[in-house]
Amino acid sequence: MSGPVTIAIDGPAGSGKSTLSRALAARLGVGRLDTGAMYRSVAWAVLQRGIDTAELDAVAEVARTLDLEVGDRVTADGTDITEAIRGPEVSAAVSPVAANPAVRAVMVARQRAWVAEHGGGVVEGRDIGSVVLPDADLKLYLTASPEVRAARRSEEGAEAVARRDRLDSTRALSPLEVPDGARVIDTGALGVDEIVEEVVAWL
Ligand code: DC
Repeated sequence: MSGPVTIAIDGPAGSGKSTLSRALAARLGVGRLDTGAMYRSVAWAVLQRGIDTAELDAVAEVARTLDLEVGDRVTADGTDITEAIRGPEVSAAVSPVAANPAVRAVMVARQRAWVAEHGGGVVEGRDIGSVVLPDADLKLYLTASPEVRAARRSEEGAEAVARRDRLDSTRALSPLEVPDGARVIDTGALGVDEIVEEVVAWL
């Protein structure tokens, strides 16, 4: 395949999306967007301002006005929050923030704008193949056993990971699901280099 390529990667917490998307983007020489980091950044700003995640309008206003840069480092209104957004407080608050329809509308628009500006790329999240980029060149859905996923997110704890996955999969709007036409990959069974070569062969 020649020309710009767009790859959508979805899957639950700890399924290996970040590792694979980084390796694929490097192999193909394209950009990578971590959309989970975008929702985490909004959750971080909501906590920082002392807003309750149930205050839908106030949370949406944070999403609309936050000056967000998501790349190798993540900054919000000029503050580097790369490490802060991985902490347990943000992990616990992010699912209700991501279930807010107005937050999703803002984030999806920014994600599509990123793809247009970059002429494609590797985009990872929960609704990328189903909602954000339904016409992606390739859609991947990653899985791994609950044990493997919990071990990869040991700092968050198996129960918290399971709770977040339940919330993300059962919410009304854009729940985590296997998108139409996605190829399902068990990342517990293969090494990242093997998966990258397999995926590149599918393009
Ligand atoms: O990928 P992650 O675990 O860093 O994502 C954090 C949360 O953001 C996840 O629990 C659900 C939400 N999310 C989402 O709703 N839609 C996306 N495209 C990406 C993440």
